[in-house]
Amino acid sequence: MNDPYRILIVERLPEIRALLTTTLSFHHDMQIVGQAGTASEGLEILQTTEIDVVLLADDLPDMEGPKAIWQYTTRERDLAVVVLTTAFDTWHLRRCMMAGARSYLTKPIDNTTLVETIREVAERVRSERSERRKKMVPGTGPLVMRPITQKGKVIVVFGAKGGVGKTMLAINLAVGLRMSTKSSTALLDADLSFGDCGLLLDIKPTHTISDFADAYNDIGADALEAEFVKGLMPRHEQTGVRVMLGPTRPEHSELITSEHLQQLFVLLPRLFDWIVINCPQSYDDRTLTILEAADLALLIVVPEIGALKNARHFLAVLNALGYDERQVKVVLNRHNSRVGISPKDVEQWLSLPITYRIPSGGPTVTASANRGIPVLIAEPRNRVSQAILGILRTIIEERENEELSA
Ligand SMILES: Nc1ncnc2c1ncn2[C@@H]1O[C@H](COP(=O)(O)OP(=O)(O)O)[C@@H](O)[C@H]1O
Ligand SMILES: [Mg+2]
Repeated sequence: MNDPYRILIVERLPEIRALLTTTLSFHHDMQIVGQAGTASEGLEILQTTEIDVVLLADDLPDMEGPKAIWQYTTRERDLAVVVLTTAFDTWHLRRCMMAGARSYLTKPIDNTTLVETIREVAERVRSERSERRKKMVPGTGPLVMRPITQKGKVIVVFGAKGGVGKTMLAINLAVGLRMSTKSSTALLDADLSFGDCGLLLDIKPTHTISDFADAYNDIGADALEAEFVKGLMPRHEQTGVRVMLGPTRPEHSELITSEHLQQLFVLLPRLFDWIVINCPQSYDDRTLTILEAADLALLIVVPEIGALKNARHFLAVLNALGYDERQVKVVLNRHNSRVGISPKDVEQWLSLPITYRIPSGGPTVTASANRGIPVLIAEPRNRVSQAILGILRTIIEERENEELSA
């Protein structure tokens, strides 16, 4: 027989705890490994005990329901929170689910539903756990929450044309920053109509930026807690990068406004040390909002006349909108393609120097992308990976120097 499911009960009333204990004691596949009357007591137990399922009441004396759920699910990801509630309020339940709850049970709790729910969520947690252990990259532990003394750095990758390698660069920078610095890192897929970061990182769109926009519209910017927003960002299993995914349907992209993005730029730098953004290639106020939030704006181009013409035009539009194009650093992708346009020509076209170069890495780059694994992880020796490591080193060094001189 498998090990019994390990259960923690966090409920204010001792009577209810006793009732749950009695019910579960009849089932040999269930083991209660801890009980707590407050959210913080429960969190302490969590630090020392392996747990599959937390039965968590949403009316604890020391913490509001969704906040408590969030605390449990982010601190220890290999567990399922089942909310015990008396509320039938759908907004409340939705917030609980967004904060990471797997399921909920309404009080008074029906015994059969209780047992079935525990089995279902615990099974799922266990199979996810073993999957994750198989996929773990050495040297990347779970995301450690640490106090952020400084605001995170916002790195925007933008391009004036599709297919130039924008998403490839954004994803690998995010993953690389996380792996090299072990600092908290977010990736925001703001290429709202073509967002493919989720696909390329093999992340299920449990939540997307559309959920953020809905919450913003429903309850207003001021009520949106940073931690709640983090709950809307699924994590990349192998590295722990948190990703704010783009809308799952392109037609929903229009519902994301520059106000939404502005609010994200207030919240994300408070939560993460690094924020990488896959920028849209449209000429609108959203793109400008994103670029204005950037500490570092990387324009990626390839040596092709069409791409360069677009990039030139893009820079001119930005300029006209009041953005200083000298803040932009140019990344020349596929710089070694023999196509008759030299890096010097590129610099002349753009009237900007090239700061970074990435060679063509052959079909393996796309092959790894197709498998949902960033090339930096799948093929660290590939020339593209090596070039990206070089870019990462400079970005990290620059930040360290800034911090030293601050
Ligand atoms: N330097 C490179 N070497 C090899 N393949 C690359 C390189 N840069 C990008 N690619 C591939 O080109 C395709 C387009 O890149 P992508 O990042 O999706 O472009 P964009 O986001 O600008 O539309 C992808 O299949 C990607 O894997
Ligand atoms: Mg793209």
